[in-house]
Amino acid sequence: MGGEEGGGAFAFNFFAAQTGAVAAVAVAARGGSASSEGADADALEAAAEARAALVAEAEAECILHGPHGGAAQRGGQADWACFEGAEEVEAPAQRRASEDLAAAETLSEIQIPGTDIRLHKCAVTSDAAAALLGETQLQESDLVPGKYEGGFKLWEGAVDLAAYIAREHKLLAADVITGTPAESGLDRLRVLELGCGHGLPGVLCLLAGSEVHFQDYNREVLTSLTAPNVAANLARLPRGAVRPRARYFAGDWLAVGSLLSTKGLDASYDLVLTAETIYSPHGASRLLECIKQVLRPPHGVALVAAKSHYFGVGGGTAGFAAAVAADGTLEVERVWVVEDGASNKREILKLAFPASIVPYFM
Ligand SMILES: C[S@@+](CC[C@H](N)C(=O)[O-])C[C@H]1O[C@@H](n2cnc3c(N)ncnc32)[C@H](O)[C@@H]1O
Repeated sequence: MGGEEGGGAFAFNFFAAQTGAVAAVAVAARGGSASSEGADADALEAAAEARAALVAEAEAECILHGPHGGAAQRGGQADWACFEGAEEVEAPAQRRASEDLAAAETLSEIQIPGTDIRLHKCAVTSDAAAALLGETQLQESDLVPGKYEGGFKLWEGAVDLAAYIAREHKLLAADVITGTPAESGLDRLRVLELGCGHGLPGVLCLLAGSEVHFQDYNREVLTSLTAPNVAANLARLPRGAVRPRARYFAGDWLAVGSLLSTKGLDASYDLVLTAETIYSPHGASRLLECIKQVLRPPHGVALVAAKSHYFGVGGGTAGFAAAVAADGTLEVERVWVVEDGASNKREILKLAFPASIVPYFM
């Protein structure tokens, strides 16, 4: 898959099973119907059934350990715990920056391509990540199926996504690093970064004034990497500069979707960001369910940065775009292509509600 910061071989034999359940949903936006005529009740019921099918399938086949690790288990009540395991992680960004930075091993800068913006980023070595997760396999592999999903590394798609956001919103270093954020439009948004790892796209939005919520499968990624990155970048702002509070959510996408609902955050995000998260069709279907649950109709937008194909694991932008189209809740458009030779072709997909639902929200 190719994390930017090296790492071990990509040994991946994640969930073999794929689901057709999501594709069975013809229509249904949360908070509003995606189609015009009369399909609302049926569509919502179909969506609920599809979601229940996904959860049931996962319950039956689950090899997840939950976000905090633990022994592998299959089937039965214990597996269900992995779907109830989502949690909001106490906001470490509110602690003093120096405390957070102490948790990170190194601090460096990364230039966002095509801009003059340099973001601080911390790093956690494979050894440290293995120790944090109690998982020695992590020293040899970028992913440990169901236990660790690559969040400690920085992947190319995250940098692409940050560059795309900066370009679309005409962001300059002067806007995000100093003073008051300019009128980029980002300052009025609530943003969720799913599968955030370092969280650089989200950090950029936060600096530009968005309220940003970060999600990762592993709590340890959020506390030892994402939050230190947030703290390091906020610490550079001039004294007195105010930015909205970041929030952090750990766990599997289905569980996080439910958790956000219980917190009144379903259908509430103007912008959902995610990078390098659709490498497996099975995971991608869960991601899509989560996006549908949290995106605010009718104008919410999700940006998905990924490689066109992930060799050996079957995911990629083409398959994901086809799944989104088959699902029918959201429309999908390819808005950016990167072919810089650093990996195979990378793309950014934009997911949005069909224009036909807008009148239902007026
Ligand atoms: C390859 S990493 C990408 C990290 C980061 N977005 C980047 O591009 O640098 C995949 C990310 O998706 C998250 N992830 C993968 N499967 C997940 C699942 N089923 N539920 C929640 N998060 C998941 C991982 O925790 C990890 O942060």
